Amino acid sequence: MYLKQLRLHQFRSYSQLAIMPPKGLTVFVGENGAGKTNLLEAIHLCCLGRSHRTSDDQDMIKIGETTAAVHATVSREGREDDVGVRLFRAQKQKKIIYVGGKTVLRIGELMGHMTCVMFSPEDMDIIKGSPQLRRRFIDMLLAQSLSGYFYALQHYNAVLKQRNALLKMMARDEQDKVQLFAWDDQLSSAAVPLVRARREAVEKLAQLSAEHYSFISGRPEEMLGITYRSILADSTDIKQDFQKLLEQSRNEDMRRLSTFYGPHRDELILTLSGEELRSFGSQGQIRSAVLAMRLSQIDILTKAQGEPPLLLLDDVLSELDSSRRSRLLSGISHVQTMLTCTEINDVHGLNPACILKVQAGQISQS
Ligand SMILES: Nc1ncnc2c1ncn2[C@@H]1O[C@H](COP(=O)(O)OP(=O)(O)O)[C@@H](O)[C@H]1O
Ligand SMILES: [Mg+2]
Repeated sequence: MYLKQLRLHQFRSYSQLAIMPPKGLTVFVGENGAGKTNLLEAIHLCCLGRSHRTSDDQDMIKIGETTAAVHATVSREGREDDVGVRLFRAQKQKKIIYVGGKTVLRIGELMGHMTCVMFSPEDMDIIKGSPQLRRRFIDMLLAQSLSGYFYALQHYNAVLKQRNALLKMMARDEQDKVQLFAWDDQLSSAAVPLVRARREAVEKLAQLSAEHYSFISGRPEEMLGITYRSILADSTDIKQDFQKLLEQSRNEDMRRLSTFYGPHRDELILTLSGEELRSFGSQGQIRSAVLAMRLSQIDILTKAQGEPPLLLLDDVLSELDSSRRSRLLSGISHVQTMLTCTEINDVHGLNPACILKVQAGQISQS
């Protein structure tokens, strides 16, 4: 897949912008706050229908404006495809998504038209931060590589919300317990595709990441392990086992007013030679592990789509020592890449197809 054109309208620091990136490496160079990450964020929005750094879509609308739009034209296997997202501040519907010029009703329909893998400085949090971030990593990987996954995830979350709402209602007045049985049944069915897909994806991710890790770190003796931690990880009858768990924890759930067990609490556990990385890993080891996970994400998406995703490298080179840098770049040389940096020296030795200067909402040929 190749991004032919990107257009922004009142998006973050940009009033109007159109760029036509070449196939190889495009470098965006500019000072801090110049608007480099904003650009990559716009691409991410076209791929996944959301920002990589905020959960509030409104943040992306240019200050003082009421609407923003991002539009991308991609070429895949020689065919052109158009995707776009329009955001509104005041309107009832705050986000409209377009695919091929037509409005689509669900974000799930956007996914897979344009795929990207973003490397950003905040990636360290995938390992160091809360379980939610590791869950999001695997969910976004699956949303882009497995059709139907995103719908399944949304469905599970909607049912979970209903069950939790009922638990709260039951606390106020003794509702019919039969209703809770009905939600248990729905929730346990909704969990099945999630657990199956995550289990399989983590297995692939673990295998690929272990290989990438030993290459990136240059330390084959350090073994990176990634395991799927879920109350249902080893279950052979996911629906039945989950339903039993929900039944067992019913009184506790009613006391807590929320559902304790389930895929919404799934986790990835990362280890290095058996020791948990988030507690024992050095900065360098954690950085290599994150890069290994991102490279595996590229492999998995490439396999699923038959073509590599677009790579977005936000300010990551300056953080790497020269050996990790050259190992990383050797792994991605065949892929269309957008890279940001503050110093052009950061890309010394690379061979960019295009260098663009970013300055106060404007982009110019360097
Ligand atoms: N909604 C917005 N409207 C206008 N400007 C914004 C908006 N959001 C962020 N900015 C501006 O964008 C700049 C940050 O852009 P960013 O892409 O993060 O910079 P960098 O080049 O360091 O990656 C800041 O100057 C900020 O004021
Ligand atoms: Mg930035």
